[in-house]
Amino acid sequence: MRIDVLTIFPDMFQNILEESILKRAIEEKKVEINIINFRDYTEDPHNKVDDTPYGGGAGMVLMPQPIFDCIDHIKTNESFIILMTPDGIPYKQQIAYELSNKKHLIIICGHYEGFDERIRSICDMEISIGDYVLTGGEIPAMVLIDSITRLLPGVIKEESHQNDSFSENLLDYPTYTKPRVYRGMEVPEVLLSGDHKKIEEYRRTESIKKTQDRRPDLLEK
Ligand code: ADE
Repeated sequence: MRIDVLTIFPDMFQNILEESILKRAIEEKKVEINIINFRDYTEDPHNKVDDTPYGGGAGMVLMPQPIFDCIDHIKTNESFIILMTPDGIPYKQQIAYELSNKKHLIIICGHYEGFDERIRSICDMEISIGDYVLTGGEIPAMVLIDSITRLLPGVIKEESHQNDSFSENLLDYPTYTKPRVYRGMEVPEVLLSGDHKKIEEYRRTESIKKTQDRRPDLLEK
């Protein structure tokens, strides 16, 4: 998979791409990630990418020209274009699965007070990562990159994400490691039993209990 990110703050992405699982996935060519500064595409003599809103109001609005021209330059028949915006559809694990099957994602990071409405016309999907407003689409874009890359074949063991929270509209079951007793808290006996059927039953029951308790809305689905 190739992911191109359009941003005016490319440096924000450096650390997350150079650590841990994302770093390895890039090195092993499971994913190619290009961070593109769309300011490079502006035709403005002063390199501007934003301007004041028509009709008045606070703040600056991203202009369509640099983003349209950048997209024209990088888009292929296989591209799927996503706009990060708080008024997009709520991001869910199911969408991460769907996007992990695409060949080429282009993620546009909105910024400041907003973006020219016409930018929406070139997007296949608009995504919000939650009901709160961030200063820009960069952190939401990182959320997408991380959640999608870990689902790509060979990036992490497949069984690791088969059991993820949300994979079946259930939250994840509790897990334990050594020591067997820590500060008086014991590992549930069944996990030490070696009985795989019982362990599976225990995990499923705990998953359902936790989901009932914390996220009953998921069970209604
Ligand atoms: N840009 C600012 N806030 C955002 C959010 N919650 N989701 C996606 N993009 C955003």
